[in-house]
Amino acid sequence: MKTKITEMFGIEHPIIQGGMHYVGFAEMAAAVSNAGGLGIITALTQKTPADLANEIARCKDMTDKPFGVNITFLPSTTPPDYPGIVEAVIKGGVKVVETAGNNPSAVLPALHDAGIKVIHKCTAVRHALKAQSIGCDAVSVDGFECGGHPGEDDVPNFILLPRAADELEIPFVSSGGQADGRSLVASLAFGAQGMNMGTRFIATKEAPVHENVKQAILAASELDTRLVMRPLRNTERVLNNAGVQSLLEKEKRLGADIKFEDIIDEVAGVYPKIMVNGEMDAGAWSCGMVAGLIHDIPTCKELIDRIMAEAEDIISNQMMGMLAGKVPA
Ligand SMILES: Cc1cc2nc3c(=O)[nH]c(=O)nc-3n(C[C@H](O)[C@H](O)[C@H](O)COP(=O)(O)O)c2cc1C
Repeated sequence: MKTKITEMFGIEHPIIQGGMHYVGFAEMAAAVSNAGGLGIITALTQKTPADLANEIARCKDMTDKPFGVNITFLPSTTPPDYPGIVEAVIKGGVKVVETAGNNPSAVLPALHDAGIKVIHKCTAVRHALKAQSIGCDAVSVDGFECGGHPGEDDVPNFILLPRAADELEIPFVSSGGQADGRSLVASLAFGAQGMNMGTRFIATKEAPVHENVKQAILAASELDTRLVMRPLRNTERVLNNAGVQSLLEKEKRLGADIKFEDIIDEVAGVYPKIMVNGEMDAGAWSCGMVAGLIHDIPTCKELIDRIMAEAEDIISNQMMGMLAGKVPA
């Protein structure tokens, strides 16, 4: 299958693994890229630009296929060394960067001068149009169902994707709630040129996270995520657990007076406890409603091959059959 995204990024299948804190290590990115998708290393999981440079080099040792780096711009009083991160990406010869969070305009000229394609993740059509206007090459349109930060507009992908298709000129991929061949065909029908998955890729053999995390995703249904940090306008969709219950209780009790310091125990430093130690009640970690569609732990290649085979069957057999007058069994 060829789309504007497979051609732009030089990949075999229109499937991207979104940046994920404490998941997007070289092993994850290389496994997805070796399976014909676009794997992505998460820059901010690395403590320094030198560590990121090392992670990029490790990934290159594991794959000769294209892979990307996610650079997330967080609202922060002590920002990470973004110029150092950009330098590590450029010197590492990375060809694709996924940006997310705040406006990436400060890093675009350097990335483009180095021939790097930039895909910006957005949760609103107006943000996608802004990304287009500042020169991003593509956008990842992240619906309300997504794991992580869905923004504050609460528009799910059945509306957001066709709205994006109606407004955008640059190519976009769907993100949030994508899991299988049905997701891919639906995304293409909505006008996307591929799909981005987060949660689904954590439940794979190669995902470098504690087994408890994979089992928690398998055990979860679509009813098991919660939205936290709404009162701080920093909404995050996370998997429910004891830490999240304690956080939500504080949000209820403190109301509009709540400050980040009040919930620091449930949100800061949680990722290594969850992803490395498997302490599943440690606090808030991103997880999408799509957990309800995840029932196994395949390799990345098995997952991507299965998605492409399902998509082909839906398009060539089921849909073409309907057009030919065959009522589905
Ligand atoms: C555990 C986890 C960590 C994530 N960390 C980041 C991150 O650091 N930066 C980012 O841009 N997106 C992050 N995301 C969002 C994903 O890149 C992706 O947009 C999202 O998972 C898509 O929704 P889905 O989980 O329904 O597939 C994270 C998602 C998960 C599940």
